[in-house]
Amino acid sequence: MPVYSISHVENVRVCVVMVGLPARGKSLISQKIVRYLSWLSIKSKCFNVGNYRRQIATMPIEVDAKFFDPNNEEGLKYRQQAIDLAIDDMMRWFSDEQGVVGILDATNSTRARRETILKLCRENYIEPMFLESFCDDQDLVLQNILDVKTTSPDYVSKPQDYAMKDFLQRIEYYNQIYEPMDAVTDSELTFIKLVNVNSQIILNRIESYLESRIVYYVMNLHIKPRCIWLSRHGESEFNVTGQIGGDSNLSTRGWRYAKKLPELVLKSLGPDAQHTNLTVWTSTLKRTQQTASFLPYKKKLQWKALDELDAGECDGMTYEEIEQKFPEDFKARDDDKYEYRYRGGESYRDIVIRLEPIIMELERQENILIITHQAVLRCLYAYFMNVPQHESPWMSIPLHTLIKLEPRAYSTLVSRIKADIPAVSTYKEKGTSQLGESVEGMSSKSRDLISASAES
Ligand SMILES: *[C@@H]1O[C@H](CO)[C@@H](O)[C@H](O)[C@H]1NC(C)=O
Ligand SMILES: *[C@@H]1O[C@H](CO)[C@@H](O)[C@H](O)[C@H]1NC(C)=O
Ligand SMILES: *[C@@H]1O[C@H](CO)[C@@H](O)[C@H](O)[C@H]1NC(C)=O
Ligand SMILES: *[C@@H]1O[C@H](CO)[C@@H](O)[C@H](O)[C@H]1NC(C)=O
Repeated sequence: MPVYSISHVENVRVCVVMVGLPARGKSLISQKIVRYLSWLSIKSKCFNVGNYRRQIATMPIEVDAKFFDPNNEEGLKYRQQAIDLAIDDMMRWFSDEQGVVGILDATNSTRARRETILKLCRENYIEPMFLESFCDDQDLVLQNILDVKTTSPDYVSKPQDYAMKDFLQRIEYYNQIYEPMDAVTDSELTFIKLVNVNSQIILNRIESYLESRIVYYVMNLHIKPRCIWLSRHGESEFNVTGQIGGDSNLSTRGWRYAKKLPELVLKSLGPDAQHTNLTVWTSTLKRTQQTASFLPYKKKLQWKALDELDAGECDGMTYEEIEQKFPEDFKARDDDKYEYRYRGGESYRDIVIRLEPIIMELERQENILIITHQAVLRCLYAYFMNVPQHESPWMSIPLHTLIKLEPRAYSTLVSRIKADIPAVSTYKEKGTSQLGESVEGMSSKSRDLISASAES
């Protein structure tokens, strides 16, 4: 049984309506909210009006800045068609696919337009929540245009300086009719207004629990470039004997990895190594702290939330022993590894719940190195890489490998550095108690990780 599904608790549906001029990071925020909520098992989806516009195949006119001139009737007609398509799709998704949080990623620059969507939501018992990204810091806007807009599908075959100029003109057209959200005029509406990312945040009439989760999440977002490094602890004595759980010391090879880790981190930092102070997070278990013990960074934090999945009564057993002693449990876990909870222990879903504060803190922080355990790493990785829940428990995260994640506007870049120190495989395939790797039946994201480990 799911223990954590807001939709079941409240039976609430929310339509987040994005508001703001182009190049204010609306799409980025929308996608992050969807990734975060999906990771928490809350069904959510983004409906991007720009994508619908690009799909109107019959559109005979060129899409340059003039298309967005509020006096361009033909442009208006197609833009209206795109928004209608997006809204129809979203409403169908709410009703036919039991969607919980739909995000309408459009500009919604005038009050009259916001009124239409408000009415539609109310008629369908969906809570409308407006999320405005307001930004008058020109440097931020220009940076955003450079980061994402000049690579937008609208400008694929165009030179960059043309794209920049045309895009600024497009913003100007929107600006002519733009009416920002306002605490007085819009006092009846539920809205969040982010001013210059999060230097100021205005909240109005946030009512449901689900809305307040979204608020809390967007309040913690920042856009400073940074990286996150992930590593499992070095091979432990229990890994050598094939036992799970416990609080054992590192094996000899595990200690070798710990000694090598500072070098791997420097290599991964590259030319920035001298100027970067990482913060190191470990669990409260010995094997992660021992793995971090040679790192030169002063700031080290222990988190109970990063401890390994609690195997309850199976703690200290090998998979073979579990298969013999609790055959039904062994099978139940293979059948649904995400939901299966060890007797007196935890499931993957339980880990996701206890990791939520870690994710919030990670969003707030800059460069962090996390040394933790296989199951916990799988869940963290799934958040950043958007790996589906039924796959994440089966991903193989190799021992003795440093993983670097670089969050970018629309994706996260991954790179790995292997320590070249042998370790036992601790990967257990479905349907067996033997350890070893396989690559079938996975999405490309989780497959990547496995093949990277299998090549050693
Ligand atoms: C949201 O904004 C778009 C683009 O400005 C507009 O065409 C649309 O009508 C707005 N949504 C609604 C339903 O008012
Ligand atoms: C590696 O060993 C630790 C105990 O030291 C254990 O918690 C962990 O589950 C092991 N990994 C696997 C997947 O066997
Ligand atoms: C782990 O190492 C410490 C210090 O070397 C030792 O005192 C302790 O007994 C070891 N623990 C286990 C479980 O082997
Ligand atoms: C890193 O932190 C140490 C100790 O806190 C400090 O002495 C050092 O100057 C910092 N280095 C940089 C590049 O910030």
